[in-house]
Amino acid sequence: MFITRKIPEQALQIIKKECDFRIWDQEDEPVPYHILEKEIEHVDGLYCLLTDNIDAPLLQKAKHLKVISQMAVGYNNINIDYATERNVMVTNTPGVLTETTADLTFALMMATSRRLVEAIDYLKQGCWKTWSPMQLTGKDIFGATLGIVGLGRIGEAVARRAKGFNMNIVYYNRSRKADTEKQLGVIYKPLDELLAEADFVCVLVPYTQQTHHLISHRELQLMKPTSILINVARGGIVDEQALYEALTTGQLLAAGLDVFEDEPVPLNHPLLSLKNVVALPHIGSASIETRTRMAVMAAQNLTTALKNERPPHLVNSTRFK
Ligand code: NAP
Ligand code: GLV
Repeated sequence: MFITRKIPEQALQIIKKECDFRIWDQEDEPVPYHILEKEIEHVDGLYCLLTDNIDAPLLQKAKHLKVISQMAVGYNNINIDYATERNVMVTNTPGVLTETTADLTFALMMATSRRLVEAIDYLKQGCWKTWSPMQLTGKDIFGATLGIVGLGRIGEAVARRAKGFNMNIVYYNRSRKADTEKQLGVIYKPLDELLAEADFVCVLVPYTQQTHHLISHRELQLMKPTSILINVARGGIVDEQALYEALTTGQLLAAGLDVFEDEPVPLNHPLLSLKNVVALPHIGSASIETRTRMAVMAAQNLTTALKNERPPHLVNSTRFK
């Protein structure tokens, strides 16, 4: 089998015990596509990351592939339909990163609303000459209305945190969540209504054909000029050009972004020039504990599938009964 990047030792040990493997560990950079093309021809298992493009032309080259184990919960970088057509199992790492990613989502809400990055720069650049009444004033989180777009595992974890801040919580989701509505007191709203009401909109849906540019010009225009958009899901869900326009024309107060349409985001990207954008390099699940848990879970998914058993976190589960 082939591993596309250096992974934590605990995960590597699990794989070492069960399989022969090759690894792209020369640099902390994605394995070049032409090398992946060569490797995939011969292997029965692939351990990959969200930075690897596992598309149909690549999968066509695989002669013996049984399983693709992704070390992430999102898997939009993998052509699932084509993998399924070719009888290849695809696994991911749900659940273990939920709380860590919800923490980061909340951190972005706090950083944008209280202008933390601007305030740090202000201090370090020697601008802090005195305390003054309206200096670096932001927006309150407590008591505000939070709109969660995608009330899945992470969305619910964000809602639980928001309750502690006495926020009103509304959500939009593909399916209604009656139990969660009761447990957390969250209220379902059609997307347009949520956008018009929320002070904070957190995007937490997966990236699919249906969610591509789910938030674009029309949706941003529905939002209040005092509201803040947070995207911790995938860059392609938010139309970045529309977001730039909304942020520069006063249509939106601020944005907190952990993800971008192109990653790493180019340094000359217009959004990075704005004071009211807090931008992070896709670190939602980046705690030592959580990244280690993800790596181990991906190793377990992989080795289980290679023993011809059903891996616990199978994405294309309907094909493999
Ligand atoms: P999840 O439990 O599957 O939650 C996703 C939610 O989105 C589900 O409730 C789902 O509804 C809903 N949904 C799916 N398609 C939709 C659509 N077209 N319209 C409205 N709602 C839709 O996933 P999760 O574990 O919370 O993770 C969510 C996403 O976060 C991942 O896919 C990944 O892209 C991203 N993520 C990012 C980071 C980071 O480092 N920034 C870390 C972890 C995850 P149903 O209930 O109907 O399925
Ligand atoms: C990270 O973005 C993940 O999907 O796990």
